[in-house]
Amino acid sequence: MRLNLRIWRQAGPTARGRLEDYSADNVSPDMSFLEMLDVVNEGLIRQGKDAIAFDSDCREGICGACSLVVNGIAHGPDRGTTVCQLHMRRFKDGDTITVEPWRAKAFPVVKDLVIDRSAFDRIIAAGGYVSVNTGGAQDGNTILIPKEVSETAMDSAACIGCGACVAACKNASAHLFVSAKVSHLALLPQGRQERYRRVTAMIAQADSEGFGSCSNEGECEAVCPKEIPISNIARMTREYVKALLVGD
Ligand code: SF4
Ligand code: FES
Repeated sequence: MRLNLRIWRQAGPTARGRLEDYSADNVSPDMSFLEMLDVVNEGLIRQGKDAIAFDSDCREGICGACSLVVNGIAHGPDRGTTVCQLHMRRFKDGDTITVEPWRAKAFPVVKDLVIDRSAFDRIIAAGGYVSVNTGGAQDGNTILIPKEVSETAMDSAACIGCGACVAACKNASAHLFVSAKVSHLALLPQGRQERYRRVTAMIAQADSEGFGSCSNEGECEAVCPKEIPISNIARMTREYVKALLVGD
């Protein structure tokens, strides 16, 4: 296939960015989207030009590093899929594909398609550890947790911190991400002791990072590669209201 690419180029955080046109020739339908970008970069390097900067690590949907908006959709057109799991067979010969970075005040562009996602790390850090003394390791079966609860907690823990939920939200809200982290710990007995301190601190940190609020658009859920449901946001709000009532 031959594809026309429109790619966001930006030399640095304060530089002015612009979409630039590239052509990707001899693209195999079996290539992943990132492999296609690798091939384009090899061509640019051979010509002595600056390669397109983009983030990736695991390339199998588990690290959350590949943060690209493809044709206006965070992580591209396939549901429940990161952009590293997107394959070129999803496109047609001659297609024009626009590739941009996440756009949110709290995720400044580092270069081209690479953004600084450290705001998420600071939210996680604000949540803190489970610091109560839980004693020695117990036999797993001595703490009985209903299957439905453990599975909901596990589903929340599936969040890979990619930030697509922020990129898709018109308010650049981090509520889906924060609520996944809050839910994961608040649902399990080990995390319940500090649930109110945790939810208050994480929401305060998200606010101070410049993420917006939630207006129930559902765009976050639609693009989330791990299909984290927005019911987590309702749970986080309940946790937060309870935290305000108990004064923690
Ligand atoms: S909630 Fe989904 S979209 Fe948001 S950071 Fe987690 S995995 Fe990514
Ligand atoms: S590179 Fe790790 S999720 Fe895409």
